[in-house]
Amino acid sequence: MTFDSVQYKTSTRQQWQDYASGWNDWAPLLESWLGEATERMLDLAGATTGSSVLDVAAGAGGQSIAACRRVGPTGTVLATDLSPAILDHAQRAATMAGLTNLTTKELDGEALRELPGESFDAAISRVGLIYFPNRQEALSGIHHTLRDGGRFATVTYSTAATNGFFSLPVSIIRDRAKLPPPAAGQPGPFSLADPAVLERDLTQAGFHDVVVETINAPVRLPSAADCVRFERESFGALHQMLGTLDNDEQADVWNEIEQALSQYNTADGFVGPCELVIAGATR
Ligand SMILES: C[S@@+](CC[C@H](N)C(=O)[O-])C[C@H]1O[C@@H](n2cnc3c(N)ncnc32)[C@H](O)[C@@H]1O
Repeated sequence: MTFDSVQYKTSTRQQWQDYASGWNDWAPLLESWLGEATERMLDLAGATTGSSVLDVAAGAGGQSIAACRRVGPTGTVLATDLSPAILDHAQRAATMAGLTNLTTKELDGEALRELPGESFDAAISRVGLIYFPNRQEALSGIHHTLRDGGRFATVTYSTAATNGFFSLPVSIIRDRAKLPPPAAGQPGPFSLADPAVLERDLTQAGFHDVVVETINAPVRLPSAADCVRFERESFGALHQMLGTLDNDEQADVWNEIEQALSQYNTADGFVGPCELVIAGATR
């Protein structure tokens, strides 16, 4: 089957429209799980008091809000995403936190050339680039928006082997729904696992001084059942992958996933393996 990037993007947008509230409802988990990586991403992006920051694939805005706090009232953050529904959550969260320096804009991360050139000091993207069919277009768009010397930083998943909390469910679903793995170069959760790929893509887009780090960021929840609930409620792509199975079969798959994830239940609760890659680069 050939990969249709237009169709892929249409369905990605719909998934995040449909699961925007689900992702937002899990915001406290997202920030406890991704918080340390987010702060490191902001460090590598050089975001500081007064910076103007572009957030690409901002979702419900967890990292946008961290950026708003970091840059303070003299700085600004523009949160962009393909899904307007998820951006509404970001705007609401900023307002509720009393932050006035966030604005949002519905914008495909591969269409950043619509923004004025050299207009941001820093750019960030947290677990977003992996969903882009044309990553190179996104990276060169980010490069276009940054001022000379501005920094881009991103957080993404490392390998399937080090991310059992997500790779186990994905591989069970692929197996049960008889789906092939994504071909090399196609979007998917582990498409940026190899630091060499990220470094190559950033360099090709014109960035230099590339830094790539990994960080251990286990997903901590009371039990494997809670992790299943998190993934069921917030990852629309998993439901789409299950779309060819009937309701009973789908329920059976989720049970199998819970069984598999229960290997990560410990005396201190569920500790789902997750390794993240954090990369930064200069325009
Ligand atoms: C896993 S969520 C991450 C959201 C947020 N960055 C976070 O870490 O909480 C992925 C986000 O990527 C967005 N996305 C996917 N493809 C996109 C594209 N081509 N352009 C912009 N956003 C996109 C989705 O709408 C979704 O909000």
